[in-house]
Amino acid sequence: MKVLVVGNGGREHALAWKLLQSHQIEQVVCVPGNGGTATMERCQNLPLLVDDFAGISEYALKNGISLVVVGPEVPLAKGITDYLQKQGLMVFGPGKMGAQIEASKAWAKALMEEAGIPTAKAAVFTEGKAAKSYVKAQGIPIVVKADGLAAGKGVTVAQSLEQAERAIDAIFGGQFGNAGNFVVIEECLQGEEVSVLALTDGLTIRPLLPAQDHKRIGEGDTGENTGGMGAYAPAPIATPELMARVQTEVLERAIAILKSRNIDYRGVLYAGLMITPTGDFKVLEFNCRFGDPETQVILPLLETPLEDLILACVQQRLAAMPPIAWKKGASASVVAASGGYPGEYEKAKVINGIEQAQAAGTTVFHAGTKLNELQQIVTDGGRVLNVTAVGDDFTQAIAQAYAGIQQIEFSGMYYRRDIGYRVLS
Ligand code: AMP
Ligand code: GLY
Repeated sequence: MKVLVVGNGGREHALAWKLLQSHQIEQVVCVPGNGGTATMERCQNLPLLVDDFAGISEYALKNGISLVVVGPEVPLAKGITDYLQKQGLMVFGPGKMGAQIEASKAWAKALMEEAGIPTAKAAVFTEGKAAKSYVKAQGIPIVVKADGLAAGKGVTVAQSLEQAERAIDAIFGGQFGNAGNFVVIEECLQGEEVSVLALTDGLTIRPLLPAQDHKRIGEGDTGENTGGMGAYAPAPIATPELMARVQTEVLERAIAILKSRNIDYRGVLYAGLMITPTGDFKVLEFNCRFGDPETQVILPLLETPLEDLILACVQQRLAAMPPIAWKKGASASVVAASGGYPGEYEKAKVINGIEQAQAAGTTVFHAGTKLNELQQIVTDGGRVLNVTAVGDDFTQAIAQAYAGIQQIEFSGMYYRRDIGYRVLS
């Protein structure tokens, strides 16, 4: 089989890496890919935009691609799956209708309420005045969200009325374009977050191992939000009892309601949960795709061939698959970021030590990297590398990931020293 993976992050490098572990997979083509997918054996990059559906389709049809796996939410929300399926291609990822579960928070909220999925109390607004008086009536802290896709920047957890009002003004002022046509205002939940990614063929839904990521730039989970500075799995906070409840109260209810709306959802359904101090939980958001960096810690523990699971979803025969098999132990990933991220940062810094990090027992997934004209791996984004290790337990996995990242060097490199502190204490 030849597989085409859409995207250019650490998640896509991990997907390509996992798929290539199987002898069934002859080649992976990444669109557009990064420095990691450019240099991996049996893998190559194709320099097209992720929303160039015609270009992707033409390449796939001409080059015998039998499966397309879509990483990011933007092409899913724009309908890449519907488009490629019409051309006769097999695609893993929901169509445009299903992708609304991530692409419209108002739509997802209504779906959750109708399905009885536990979630934070919320109200939706189309203009600022009503939104602000609602915020005043509810009091702080309160959460203000742009409805649509905003690359993770559309959510403000407001600690003051002024902050909430500024967030409302920014959204309705057009800061997020069409993503700001609606504002969702939500009760602020306290607790610990966990990501439950599940595979579904539209009828059956099976969770992967739960994972946790560190969203903030600073140690102790302080400072600005980022795309994720590190992750680990399986997250112990998601006990078997909790996962059983998530299965019946979240995942199965979501699939049932999507089906009742005639939405044929085949792909990943990712539930972002808040576990409250009493051990109860609520859904903060759904995503219509694999998480990044969660995927980079989940896939190294997966024993069942990934393509078997993906094909079972696409061909709607997940119920007949044996239980998903996992390696024992734990995995952890530390992100090496460009100095200044999530603010401004420089690019094109030469990266050294990746091979040494791998010799130290880690798998280095590339995120913002590329191969320059001199065939050097250079930085090309805010989050640059995901240095990942598997161990018998978290102590081992985390120590190994840090031993690996210490081998790596580029000008301005920054990483958090405390990834996984919750599971180590
Ligand atoms: P979302 O994109 O909706 O997941 O929001 C991004 C982040 O904002 C989440 O991962 C949480 O850290 C935070 N967040 C979102 N909704 C809430 C909420 N209702 N209460 C507290 N924090 C929230
Ligand atoms: N790690 C958060 C996300 O993928 O949305």
